[in-house]
Amino acid sequence: MYLFLNVVAVLTVLGGTCEQIGRRRAVPVIYLRGSHYEVGYDVGRTFSSLIKDFIDTYANLRDFEKEYKTDAGRNAYEITLANMKKKYPFYINEMQGVADGAKVPFNVLFLLQMDDIIETINENHIPRQDTGGCSSIGIHTAHDAILGHTEDAFHETLNHFYIMSAHIIPTEEDKKLGAVEERFASLCYAGHMPGYTMGFNANGLVFSINTLSPLILKPGSTPRTFITRALLTAKNFDDAEKILLDEGLGVANGFSVNMIWSDINNVRKIYNVEVAPDLTSNRSLINVKHFENEPLIHTNKYLRLQLKEVNGPIIDSSNARLEAIYKHRSPKNRDDIQNILSDTSRQDFHVFQDQKESVIKTIAAGVFDLEKKTWSIYINKPNSSEPIAVLPLRFTNLEN
Ligand SMILES: *[C@@H]1O[C@H](CO)[C@@H](O)[C@H](O)[C@H]1NC(C)=O
Ligand SMILES: *[C@@H]1O[C@H](CO)[C@@H](O)[C@H](O)[C@H]1NC(C)=O
Repeated sequence: MYLFLNVVAVLTVLGGTCEQIGRRRAVPVIYLRGSHYEVGYDVGRTFSSLIKDFIDTYANLRDFEKEYKTDAGRNAYEITLANMKKKYPFYINEMQGVADGAKVPFNVLFLLQMDDIIETINENHIPRQDTGGCSSIGIHTAHDAILGHTEDAFHETLNHFYIMSAHIIPTEEDKKLGAVEERFASLCYAGHMPGYTMGFNANGLVFSINTLSPLILKPGSTPRTFITRALLTAKNFDDAEKILLDEGLGVANGFSVNMIWSDINNVRKIYNVEVAPDLTSNRSLINVKHFENEPLIHTNKYLRLQLKEVNGPIIDSSNARLEAIYKHRSPKNRDDIQNILSDTSRQDFHVFQDQKESVIKTIAAGVFDLEKKTWSIYINKPNSSEPIAVLPLRFTNLEN
């Protein structure tokens, strides 16, 4: 009897590693230099256990795998992979590096990129329920520019992320296919490509991403995570816009990107761009807004592009967070932004999502301070805890 109880206790502990170990106050950062494959390999090798643990526990991935076994799912996967091998072969090499380094199958990592595109492939006829969250708030004043962001993700992602600070020197072969030298830092969910969260590049770009959920997706087109991976190469706003348009294919699913661009004269501009699949042409649908005298505020619903979105918690949560955010005075400085990002005033959804039962959790909050040239990463509320990590914002390509 005594033995039996012990076995049960051990199993219970193993069953819920994520919840049992609590919110870890840890921000793993890896500094890398090399080709796409080499950089991927070192990320995979270093974070193999985080990646494997994430792959084993991420419930949505079980749905992606189920759909992959259907004809429609397999077909969408194969067309997308063939298209990405043509358009972004060097990012496929990078993913192969992660797979080899972490000793996980490539197709599992590619399924993570397929995300809602494959999850919903067989059910486009019923209104989809989606869950998601991420709040971004930016200001541009005479003295400073700040971008604050809660990185909200499925609860399995809690404690399963890292920051890549990479200098990519493409191989001759990758260069011929269009790869360029890259310097960036980005938070990554375990096993995912950099770019689809928050970070910066050496050309003066600071960014954060909000997942958006159009009802109708475009299987076979470019997954949003490839577009945001490519955004890390952007040299200026026009270049970024071109990458987002993705002429020839267009994005398959939805997101918005918040950007602060600094140029060589230290002139800054702040934008939000909403991006959606265009069902009538081979490019993305985009809406650009440049913010001058008002704060940038974005959650997980379209504010400007007119299109049909899903129902469900992603919209309810976005509306709730927008209401909570607009109850504060209009943010004028960093403290204001940190207070808003820490808001837990509502019963239903929090801006800083830390409720025990919540499927979506704030796994980290980031504050980019352009004047101080820092990126502070908080694991707990940013207005009542110290950042766990403070990374320098290095716009090396704007220097001298
Ligand atoms: C999009 O591209 C496909 C494949 O190249 C082509 O068959 C189709 O006509 C294009 N559609 C539009 C609207 O340009
Ligand atoms: C943090 O911000 C919230 C509002 O979002 C506020 O209620 C709370 O008092 C703030 N905490 C501190 C320590 O300033």
